Amino acid sequence: MPSHPSVLTAQYNGTLFFGDNLDILRRHLPNGSVDLVYLDPPFQSGRTYHLYTGVRTPAPGPMAFDDTWTFGPHTQWALDALVREHDRLGRALVGLYGFLGPCDMMAYLVTMAERIVEIHRVLRLTGSVFLHCDPTASHYLKIVMDAVFGPECFRNEIIWRYRRWPTKAHRFQRMHDVILYYTRTPNGCHTFHTLYGYEELSESTKKTFGTKKQKADFSAGHRKPGLSDEETAGPPLSDVWEIGVIAAKGKERLGYPTQKPEALLERILLAATNEGDVVLDPFCGSGTTLGVAQRLGRQWIGIDRSAEARHTVEVRMRRSFGKTARWIVIDDDTAKPQLRPLAKIISKHVQIMNEVA
Ligand SMILES: C[S@@+](CC[C@H](N)C(=O)[O-])C[C@H]1O[C@@H](n2cnc3c(N)ncnc32)[C@H](O)[C@@H]1O
Repeated sequence: MPSHPSVLTAQYNGTLFFGDNLDILRRHLPNGSVDLVYLDPPFQSGRTYHLYTGVRTPAPGPMAFDDTWTFGPHTQWALDALVREHDRLGRALVGLYGFLGPCDMMAYLVTMAERIVEIHRVLRLTGSVFLHCDPTASHYLKIVMDAVFGPECFRNEIIWRYRRWPTKAHRFQRMHDVILYYTRTPNGCHTFHTLYGYEELSESTKKTFGTKKQKADFSAGHRKPGLSDEETAGPPLSDVWEIGVIAAKGKERLGYPTQKPEALLERILLAATNEGDVVLDPFCGSGTTLGVAQRLGRQWIGIDRSAEARHTVEVRMRRSFGKTARWIVIDDDTAKPQLRPLAKIISKHVQIMNEVA
């Protein structure tokens, strides 16, 4: 059952918006209309990202998105507006600016702050947000999230630990991302389902209790662990998740750079939504969140400003759900000329991946 009847059901379920998410959030999404937001924005890596075309050539594939930032007049204007309009966030940003100055990181944080304000606005009181980032900016983003949501709405810092080819580095290998989990309100009314079965019992637990479900026994006047006859489903899932990245020849791979594994989104959606709830991904890229939402019977709304992302979402939906998934794309006409050559490249890649699979 959905948490609440949704005003979006008829209007935007299965909608892929094509454009800048700030503008789209402001123009299209009403207050308190979304149950869960997962966002995986650029991480402030200072790089541009290109499509994998499935062919090894010296030239990269077409650019998917840019993750370079400059503090310019527009950033100053946006910063001033945030400071004027949002007291606590304004003070946090002024503090960060005092420390960082008008640099690339500050430009990134102002851009993110504008969007986080809108995400807070569109969330229902029972809703949650999962902000995916990495240690480049996670410490600053947590300050922005605390300033917008309130530190009392912080729930977890989830560590997504993965393995990939080691790189040459005069430090430890970087092999984790950070997902900041906040709820819209602090009072515990948010949707949350404890997940079991993802982690092994510890060796010491197995030795002492075996694999039977434990139950508290108060018969002796104090709490003492006892055992039931039922097999345990395992410990409740912790905040450190070990999930493989999408392999170079993995079935899931669509050729979109930074594509996240469906297993990651599945955990988030199963834990923090109910069937029928509205899930929004304002930086949807290849549409991992949207595909998982569709499979799990959630309503979804995706936003991305990259033509490559838009096309990849359509390939994903068609490939996973054939004609059973219906979606609409709301875009502006200027993007259309880019789509035709791109469609060829992606279809070719998908064909390659299908052959491999
Ligand atoms: C890290 S990727 C998301 C990858 C995605 N989670 C997946 O699994 O494929 C970030 C995406 O944000 C998009 N993006 C960046 N800035 C944006 C903006 N202002 N409005 C809309 N989309 C934006 C980029 O085009 C890119 O597709």
